[in-house]
Amino acid sequence: MSNRTFTMIKPDAMKNGHAGAILDRIVKEGFRVVALKQTKLSAEKAGEFYAVHKERPFYGELVSFMSSGVIIAAILEKDNAVAAFRKLIGATNPAQAEEGTIRKLFATSLGENAVHGSDSDENAAIEGSFFFSGLEQF
Ligand code: RTP
Ligand code: MG
Repeated sequence: MSNRTFTMIKPDAMKNGHAGAILDRIVKEGFRVVALKQTKLSAEKAGEFYAVHKERPFYGELVSFMSSGVIIAAILEKDNAVAAFRKLIGATNPAQAEEGTIRKLFATSLGENAVHGSDSDENAAIEGSFFFSGLEQF
């Protein structure tokens, strides 16, 4: 069990002005920020990040959405970080997310669901190093 996870605040939440509220919630839930930046994914980079989904019917839509605007990328630390963060963000579809979760509060739709959260320790490490060098992680 690792104590780190990786997140992105997705373009819908950035455009809707929810970044500050989302980061405030994350910190208040006890996650420590290890690395953080605002950036924008090209379609090529978004495709690479979500390559695991490339055979899925929603892949094209996902890549186009994730490259449609700026995002905030961050590495977060807390005990049992991956599972704790997935619980905090709620189900992929905001209609099914529990009350009080970040997706319930801030997501637009199944496709535009406000935040990403890593689904395993292994992917958290891969995704964190996709965005941040060792010199950017403290
Ligand atoms: P994420 O990777 O972004 O944290 O989301 P997740 O684990 O909860 O969901 P995942 O199955 O990994 O799907 C990745 C993202 O693809 C979009 N999606 N669209 N239109 C659809 O049926 C559909 N299904 C998934 C969502 O943006 C989802 O977060
Ligand atoms: Mg996922």
